[in-house]
Amino acid sequence: MKGSIISWLLLAISTISIFSDVAATSASAKCLGADQSSLLLELRHSLVFNTSASTKLVRWGRSANSWSGVTCEDGLLVGLDLSEEWISGGINRSSSLFRLKFLRSLNLAFNHLSYSMIPSGFANLSHLVHLNLSNAPFSGQISAELSRLTKLRKLDLSAIHFSECDPLKLEKPSLRSLIRDMGELRELYLNEVDLSVEGSEWCNALSSSVPKLEVLSMSHCSLSGPIDASLLSLANLSVIRLNLNDLSTTVPSILANFSSLKTLSLHNCDLKGEFPQKHTINFFRLPDSIGNLRKLSMLDLHNCSLSGSIPTSMENLSELTYLDLSSNNLTGSLPSYGASRNLTQIYLFDNALTGQITSVGWEDLLNLEYLYLRNNSLEGDIPSTLFTLPRLEEIYLSNNKFSGQLIINPNVSSNRLESLDLSSNLLQGSIPRWIWKLRNLAYLNLSSNFFEDLETPLCNLTPTLLYVDLHSSMHRGNMLPLPSQAICLDFSSNNITSVFSDNIGNYLSSSTMFFSLSMNNFHGSIPKSICKATYSMHLEVLDLSHNLLNGTIPNCLMKASLKVLNLRNNQLSGNIPQNISTTCGLKTLDLSENLLQGQIPLSLANCTTLEILNIGNNQIDGTFPCHFMAISSLRVLILRSNKLHGEIGCAHSPFTWQMLQIIDLSSNDLSGTLPASLLASWEAMKAEVDFNYLQYELYIRGGYYYQDTVSVTIKGLEQKLTKILTIFTSIDFSGNRFEGQIPNTLGDLKALYSLNLSHNAISGSIPPILGNLLQLESLDLSWNHLNGTIPAHLANLDLLSFLNLSNNQLVGSIPDSGHFLTFSKSAFERNLGLCGLQLNKSCSIAMNKTKEAGDDGNNDDNKKKWFFLGIPLGFVVGFWVFCGPLVFIRSWRFAYYRFWDKVLF
Ligand SMILES: *[C@@H]1O[C@H](CO)[C@@H](O)[C@H](O)[C@H]1NC(C)=O
Ligand SMILES: *[C@@H]1O[C@H](CO)[C@@H](O)[C@H](O)[C@H]1NC(C)=O
Ligand SMILES: *[C@@H]1O[C@H](CO)[C@@H](O)[C@H](O)[C@H]1NC(C)=O
Ligand SMILES: *[C@@H]1O[C@H](CO)[C@@H](O)[C@H](O)[C@H]1NC(C)=O
Ligand SMILES: *[C@@H]1O[C@H](CO)[C@@H](O)[C@H](O)[C@H]1NC(C)=O
Ligand SMILES: *[C@@H]1O[C@H](CO)[C@@H](O)[C@H](O)[C@H]1NC(C)=O
Ligand SMILES: *[C@@H]1O[C@H](CO)[C@@H](O)[C@H](O)[C@H]1NC(C)=O
Ligand SMILES: *[C@@H]1O[C@H](CO)[C@@H](O)[C@H](O)[C@H]1NC(C)=O
Repeated sequence: MKGSIISWLLLAISTISIFSDVAATSASAKCLGADQSSLLLELRHSLVFNTSASTKLVRWGRSANSWSGVTCEDGLLVGLDLSEEWISGGINRSSSLFRLKFLRSLNLAFNHLSYSMIPSGFANLSHLVHLNLSNAPFSGQISAELSRLTKLRKLDLSAIHFSECDPLKLEKPSLRSLIRDMGELRELYLNEVDLSVEGSEWCNALSSSVPKLEVLSMSHCSLSGPIDASLLSLANLSVIRLNLNDLSTTVPSILANFSSLKTLSLHNCDLKGEFPQKHTINFFRLPDSIGNLRKLSMLDLHNCSLSGSIPTSMENLSELTYLDLSSNNLTGSLPSYGASRNLTQIYLFDNALTGQITSVGWEDLLNLEYLYLRNNSLEGDIPSTLFTLPRLEEIYLSNNKFSGQLIINPNVSSNRLESLDLSSNLLQGSIPRWIWKLRNLAYLNLSSNFFEDLETPLCNLTPTLLYVDLHSSMHRGNMLPLPSQAICLDFSSNNITSVFSDNIGNYLSSSTMFFSLSMNNFHGSIPKSICKATYSMHLEVLDLSHNLLNGTIPNCLMKASLKVLNLRNNQLSGNIPQNISTTCGLKTLDLSENLLQGQIPLSLANCTTLEILNIGNNQIDGTFPCHFMAISSLRVLILRSNKLHGEIGCAHSPFTWQMLQIIDLSSNDLSGTLPASLLASWEAMKAEVDFNYLQYELYIRGGYYYQDTVSVTIKGLEQKLTKILTIFTSIDFSGNRFEGQIPNTLGDLKALYSLNLSHNAISGSIPPILGNLLQLESLDLSWNHLNGTIPAHLANLDLLSFLNLSNNQLVGSIPDSGHFLTFSKSAFERNLGLCGLQLNKSCSIAMNKTKEAGDDGNNDDNKKKWFFLGIPLGFVVGFWVFCGPLVFIRSWRFAYYRFWDKVLF
């Protein structure tokens, strides 16, 4: 849907400009005869339109000269432009519109005609030369009567296909019968009209009927290839747009024969995405003859399965202004573009291009505005001439193998550079000072390089900088460039060794939303001045994790706009801030791996939006925080490795944790029996919910998020879940003093993946109902006082891949189902009287049971989920998931929209 809107906008812009000539004279229309005026008034009366948005219709009839959108000649109405008039409803068959017999030009584009059929009345307007019904929008079969408009020179029936509506169709009549008698046609726009014609038929239909055609625009028309040689008879073609059709079966080398061609756009010409099963991808090469298209100014072949190298003949395309060969599999090096001095946009990203780019002749490309070469294998120096090109606005060279140093002093005085992305390369040396002074720079990404440090001193930073991503870019550093209006700042993973400056909060911009210093060597305490930034009501993500910060946590961090606060793995001490008010809007709070003491404050329950709370690995004492039960949104609660004591029943709480999916109370001093009714209230562990990630959504636009991470112990190993799936569920009560029996209510938690009750004093027998936990992959009941036999029911747990029942008082035979046989001795050893193959100890009782039939049905699916869970990535994903979308919002750029289009396509 987003994609459609974007293409709608783009098309709107292009179509409006194409048809601007039709609306040429917003005539005073004095010449209009009385009969014609009354027809117009009748028309106005019959149309439903939004009077507050209309600019033409709404004025009609107010005075003699008020006919906007109307053109006349000798008393006759010859032109009518009602585009963008917010006309809704439909147009009646008997509308007076169809009595405006002398009309030569009619434009109804961009209205709200709610997908009605095209009325056949248009055929009455037999003098029509220009007809624009694009995006009116109409739908259904195109009326055969339209073929009577034999004087047409320009016909536009293009639409944007919103998935919920039928597109226009050309089946009966076919394309051939529609245009049969339109021999004068110069421009034909049928984008998004469903033609569904095979092979060469559409080429033949065009070449035999409309020999004077200059503009052919049939994107996403369900055309198939190959493009037939008969098309060559349309010698005047200057624009060919056949994007999003299935033309993959051929090399379009014949296109090189259209000597007048100025625009060639065939992107997505194999519809890989749409019919993945139908196609083996046919790669084809760009023909050398493409260099013959001397007049070509726009070439768009992105996502067209091109392979091989870019022909050097393209150096002859001296008129080229727009070049897009992105998302192909092009290899070899970049040709020299020196001859194409008028190039403004170069998109060659997502290919396999190699070699250096120093000899491209950049110094001649004085008109270059956008240069996108990311995701290739380009190497060598980044030519310093790039930074001197006067019109260059965006440079994206990320994810290549560029090396060497950035030049220290290029002449960048008049550079318009707004976006500079050199991330994920092999660049060295210092990050030069001039970068921070580029007058228009808004987006800077130098992350993932091998810079040493920043060239200092850093002063007078350009105030336009909004996004700075320097994560994993430097070996060492001690300076933080803090531009005055930055929205996103990521300095994580840089080995910055510095005291946390007392007044950092003063320098942090009041517009900062994302600030990460994670994984550095910052020491000293968190300065109070940081409160200033949080009070500004913009800071949403503050990540100071994995540093050497000491002292206490400032109270203010719990108060303001913050949604994500991550202070994990520092040396923070003292209490968790008290007196947290209801203004707390935190969704993620991670204070784990510090030296925090005291009790968990009651007032933390005022953070009613918390989803993830991690206070693990501190020295917190006191009792289990039953008051947290009021936080109904809580999904993850980690209190591991603290000094909590007492029971966890929370018997008197009126609340429940409906959403709770991960709870880790391991390695504390908790005691009492396992709370049967508490367990029974964890609804999220009972049924699988939507497959999703726990994420922090930006309010600006749904769907973008800060990735929350958490470490859990699964299958006996600690794992970091970079992405927390909403289906991941885990209970870890290990290493406490729980006693009594395992409650049967555990058997209701049918969505549970991991259960760890080890190292407690739990007694009684293993309830057979645990055999109902069919999703269970990890079960650890070791080091307890469990007695009795292992219930045969447990052999139902087909997905179980980790089991530990050792160090109990279990007796009898180990279930001998095939699955159970895969567990090793260590899972069962040191029990009172277990026997079975796994322990090399045969049982006196004959092991004589039918083997359980394995149910393999869902295995693949579940393995997939574990695959996601098991990826132990680092905690460095913040910037892109949070700031990336903001960057895109900022820029009103074709390339970005096309990017989103592609994503959504
Ligand atoms: C009419 O147009 C105005 C101004 O664009 C807009 O605010 C309003 O919502 C529109 N009304 C309808 C019914 O579309
Ligand atoms: C470049 O564009 C200018 C107009 O912007 C035009 O006059 C000139 O002929 C073009 N040069 C080439 C080599 O196409
Ligand atoms: C791209 O081309 C290279 C070299 O020709 C080839 O090894 C690779 O498989 C191609 N990639 C795809 C996706 O076909
Ligand atoms: C981090 O910096 C310190 C000195 O500042 C240096 O000893 C250490 O090797 C650096 N670590 C890395 C990974 O570069
Ligand atoms: C914090 O660390 C600094 C050194 O980095 C030290 O001087 C200071 O005393 C420490 N403060 C506390 C409260 O431990
Ligand atoms: C926050 O929580 C505490 C303890 O539950 C409560 O006494 C206090 O009134 C709450 N504060 C606000 C501002 O609601
Ligand atoms: C298991 O232990 C419980 C108490 O710990 C005891 O009541 C029960 O009799 C024992 N059962 C067996 C089969 O030993
Ligand atoms: C299983 O037990 C049945 C009787 O309970 C007996 O007839 C059979 O021989 C036994 N099978 C094995 C393999 O011991």
